[in-house]
Amino acid sequence: ASTPGSPVGLASVADSFVFAFDIDGVLVRGGEAIPEAIQAMKVLNGANEFGIHVPHIFLTNGGGKTEEERCADLSRQLLQDIKPGQFICGHTPMREMASKHRTVLVVGGEGEKCRVVAEGYGFQDVVTPGDIIKHDAATTPFRKLTPEEHANSRERDFADVAIDAVFVFADSRDWAGDIQIMLDLAMSRGGRLGTRSETLDEGPPFYFSHNDVVWSAAHEHVRLGMGALRRMFEVTFKDLAGGKGKLRTHAFGKPQVSTFEFASRLMSRWRSTEHGLAGPPQTIYFVGDTPESDIRGANAVNEEADNDWYSILVKTGVYQDGTEPAYKPRVIVDNVLDAVNYGIQREM
Ligand code: G3P
Ligand code: MG
Repeated sequence: ASTPGSPVGLASVADSFVFAFDIDGVLVRGGEAIPEAIQAMKVLNGANEFGIHVPHIFLTNGGGKTEEERCADLSRQLLQDIKPGQFICGHTPMREMASKHRTVLVVGGEGEKCRVVAEGYGFQDVVTPGDIIKHDAATTPFRKLTPEEHANSRERDFADVAIDAVFVFADSRDWAGDIQIMLDLAMSRGGRLGTRSETLDEGPPFYFSHNDVVWSAAHEHVRLGMGALRRMFEVTFKDLAGGKGKLRTHAFGKPQVSTFEFASRLMSRWRSTEHGLAGPPQTIYFVGDTPESDIRGANAVNEEADNDWYSILVKTGVYQDGTEPAYKPRVIVDNVLDAVNYGIQREM
């Protein structure tokens, strides 16, 4: 442990290891903290037998709000002050795409929130499904805008608009309407609504903020996630295209190695600005509940990284005790508190 050069106060700071946490199914379920999570945060913040503070970040596939807003939610849930400098959500890496596309369709989330996020990332011209339905209500026969949605959606003549890329920022609140609009664009000539390509290979690229088919929410069984929306979109496109055409889809988030590398860079910055520590940690304990995204990604980045990404699977979310995880973690523990204690004991 290093001597503190940080706002953490008198606790000494671990310099050789850190923790990174998945959120849904590890720390939170259905908007409520998992009980052990609150104690786990206290342990990380010095309430352990060594009096040591362990730097940590959060890496969720969720999204739909600005990083500031998500951190405020998480701080309230976990009774700990969590800052955007230690937080990555599914759409955070999309920030780096803002200068690559001019007009983009942003799908998902509550109301106008994802448009606000995208504009905050620097996207120049952000269209929502609401704008398209406002322009032509026949687009989605069973989806009518509420008066509030109508007021918030922007008036626009889409005759002259080419949508260069589609970004699914957060879970869709209207799968049928959103898939319809995405298919219209996939089959269009160069992202121009109302047109149909002969070859069905001229649509814009589609970026999803993650690929989780299911996730752990309040219900006792897992719930459908963005990966399921993507599957429905891709399968329906195939059916409609009847063997021709081409769809360009790509998912960010876990288990992409690039997302874990992004997290590594964030962790280095956080350790340096918050704790005055130079260079990367030797070990990153990554605690997740979903073998297909958390464990798969942590194991994959471990193959490539100089430091040790140590995957820990918990039993409070997607993974079910007694089943064989599709991707094997280094260790399985009951919950996030056990994960934190396990890592600290292993290090000290
Ligand atoms: O939509 C959120 C979900 O798919 C997973 O979130 O925190 O478990 O990565 P998380
Ligand atoms: Mg999870």
